Amino acid sequence: MDIKITKTTTPKEKPQGKLGFGRIFTDHMFVMDYTRGKGWHDPRIVPYEDITLSPASMVFHYGQEMFEGLKAYRGADGKAYLFRPDMNGKRTNDTNDRLCIPQLPVEDFVQAVKAVVEVDQDWIPTDPGTSLYIRPFIIATEPFLGVDVSETFLFMIILSPSGAYYENGLEPVGIWIEDDYVRAVRGGMGFAKTGGNYAASLAAQVKAHDDGYSQVLWLDGVERKYIEEVGAMNIFFKIDGKVVTPMLNGSILPGITRNSVLELCRSWGLPTEERRISVDELLQAQKEGKLEEVFGTGTAAVISPVGKLRYKDDVMVIGDGKIGELSQKLYDTVTGIQLGTLEDTFGWRVPVE
Ligand code: PLP
Ligand code: COI
Repeated sequence: MDIKITKTTTPKEKPQGKLGFGRIFTDHMFVMDYTRGKGWHDPRIVPYEDITLSPASMVFHYGQEMFEGLKAYRGADGKAYLFRPDMNGKRTNDTNDRLCIPQLPVEDFVQAVKAVVEVDQDWIPTDPGTSLYIRPFIIATEPFLGVDVSETFLFMIILSPSGAYYENGLEPVGIWIEDDYVRAVRGGMGFAKTGGNYAASLAAQVKAHDDGYSQVLWLDGVERKYIEEVGAMNIFFKIDGKVVTPMLNGSILPGITRNSVLELCRSWGLPTEERRISVDELLQAQKEGKLEEVFGTGTAAVISPVGKLRYKDDVMVIGDGKIGELSQKLYDTVTGIQLGTLEDTFGWRVPVE
């Protein structure tokens, strides 16, 4: 791809102080158009600005869209690095297939991410726990009110210097196991990273927040019995010395952090299991004192310890209000590889330049 770059003449002030998540945007963005018959064309980096779309654009009406999430880090050597960006490129195409969005070559996806991060690399924050969050997304832009596949799309990448996803950083969060609403079913689009899945999650999230819980843990959409994933992360349990996580069954997102955590645990010789886990099994393990740790994994959430799980009238308190030993080791290892303070034996770090 030959990417045309137009730089801003009015760069913004960089943020000072504590960074939240996802509210501040950098000086530039990547844009590329798709037209049926012509394919992807006109890749360009332009100053960050509002965009103009027809109110009839199909994305506004039927939600044909996808998004990804990854991060850029300032390495210990001062250079900018990405973490497994090819996995985001591959997942983009799995999502695109499900939503009838045209395929985007993985090399083009990675090139576009690298190019825009390189232009705005001074925006990568360096305080502990901070990074440059990267949000690639594709929207259907054809102005048409019929339910159909759009003939035109826009692929964009925006960048946001960010701190911890949860306000309290590594403090264990409380999670609400939802027993009424469901998020996805097999054959649906749970495995895809598309806005509709998140829109479907809001009502339960509001309910959980009102009760003082940070996020929702979804159960399977058929029996409402088996654990799936959390609103913005995959979920892991340490039960009686084993690391257990729900298997990929089509209705949960195949997280890149999830995959990395499984590989790390296996490399440490820990027994891991990807399988169905029922809520009853968790309640039982908790009663027997075998539910040792619970944590979520995600790009935004990194490794996020869970201190409390609510299911109907039961509240399971996990650990002693502090992050568990394995969760802490995983957090230190994943962030150490990302920042280059630990050796990257898996080849997961990718330099931007
Ligand atoms: N599950 C959901 C619903 C998510 O939104 C995310 C975040 O991307 C994840 C899991 C974790 O995926 P990853 O580790 O690739 O960021
Ligand atoms: C990410 O972790 O990258 C995500 O996409 C989570 C997001 C829904 C905030």
